[in-house]
Amino acid sequence: MAKAKIAYVCTECGAEFNKWQGQCGECGAWNTLSEIVLESAGATAKAPAAARRSGWAGAVEPPKITALKDVRHSEHARVSTGIGEFDRVLGGGLVEGAVVLVGGDPGIGKSTLLLQALAKMAAQLPVLYVTGEESLAQVAGRAVRLDLPLEGLNALSETGIEQILQHASVARPKLIVADSVQTLWSESLTAAPGSVSQVRESAARLVRYAKETGTAVFLVGHVTKEGGIAGPRVLEHMVDAVLYFEGDGGSRFRILRAFKNRFGAVNELGVFAMGEKGLKEVANPSAIFLSGGSTHQPGSCVMVTREGTRPLLVEVQALVDSSPLSNPRRVAVGLEQNRLAMLLAVLHRHGGVLVGDQDVFVNVVGGIRVQETAADLPVLLAVLSSLRDQPLAEKTIAFGEVGLSGEIRPVPNGEERLREAATHGFKRAIVSKANAPKSGAVKGMEVIAVERLAEAIEAA
Ligand code: TYD
Ligand code: MG
Repeated sequence: MAKAKIAYVCTECGAEFNKWQGQCGECGAWNTLSEIVLESAGATAKAPAAARRSGWAGAVEPPKITALKDVRHSEHARVSTGIGEFDRVLGGGLVEGAVVLVGGDPGIGKSTLLLQALAKMAAQLPVLYVTGEESLAQVAGRAVRLDLPLEGLNALSETGIEQILQHASVARPKLIVADSVQTLWSESLTAAPGSVSQVRESAARLVRYAKETGTAVFLVGHVTKEGGIAGPRVLEHMVDAVLYFEGDGGSRFRILRAFKNRFGAVNELGVFAMGEKGLKEVANPSAIFLSGGSTHQPGSCVMVTREGTRPLLVEVQALVDSSPLSNPRRVAVGLEQNRLAMLLAVLHRHGGVLVGDQDVFVNVVGGIRVQETAADLPVLLAVLSSLRDQPLAEKTIAFGEVGLSGEIRPVPNGEERLREAATHGFKRAIVSKANAPKSGAVKGMEVIAVERLAEAIEAA
């Protein structure tokens, strides 16, 4: 057998290198390069000649130069998953031949969601659930417990990618779920199952199969807190869409978010609640991230974020406490840590409020992660409120980006956010001047328009 070719991939960003090095040349992360064995010479020879020439495994016809206007195309055919929130995140349903990676912490509900979707889709097309983690009895038991229709729900307990593809080429499902991609392995590699090489190779085979046959594939991938052992990260470049399932253990709400989507918008959110009978859609999630009644407390501020295409009311909590450490702690849960450090510097420099000797903890209620800069102002107001041990005025919301020179900048769709807050009974809003609607545009909402951080602090 020819000598296996070796390459190195970064488990953080997925970049590939010929030689090992301590730092990834792409993303700068240290010690993230992991050895992978490229497909052995024997296995490559099986790929169609044209595919080998083009370097793209999915090519079926020999490639030639074509004028784009002559290319026959059609809108992507989509199939509904039968779950509205899931369809929303996919960009309006599942596209034929698409490969979708669903990542998330163990136990968050990935298997549950996909089994529920599969049971609904089985009524429209042939499906196959490949389980490498749970036994067939466990999968069947769960389907029964969730009251799912078992009609057409086919499963295969197998982890060898060659066997899986062989079964698939006979049964010809139009949709395959591989749960999980970390359990898959290929005979063509000597690396251990679960290693980056095996995960990558197995996923690549499935992607090729999907493109050649028009079969849609869901890959389930576990991610650790650090971003992933044998990582889904290295798969992100190969697949058409990457969805992450988030939520904290204490809350029953789960958020499905698109990080990459060739067939739809990114950052679209789907919201679910985990219950007795599996995951239920939350079609109108605007107020579920409030802690309920306790928002009139020191250290709490309600913000209106707009992740995806819907406004959401989200509570931000802060705790500021004098620190015994010479290097006080800054901890952000549900927000970016560096952003918090930057905001605290702005608070000092332009608000005249020093928290240098204090530990600062900030938490976004409900396990949702807020990526929008609209959270800046509410975070600072919550910090300030905790520091002074005084709640903000009752029924107050805030949103706005805070600039490095202490200015409060507007965020998109200000009026829509204000209206959403008003429908949930909020009476007062602290926002950027440019987000303030013309007089009285939002009924029942007193809008306090501010231009500088100092004004916002005064208003609070
Ligand atoms: P699971 O789908 O197995 O998670 P993953 O595949 O992401 O590892 O979900 C497991 C969790 O969900 C488990 O802790 C129990 C909980 N759960 C419910 O609360 N209700 C249910 O109906 C089901 C099926 C699971
Ligand atoms: Mg699972």
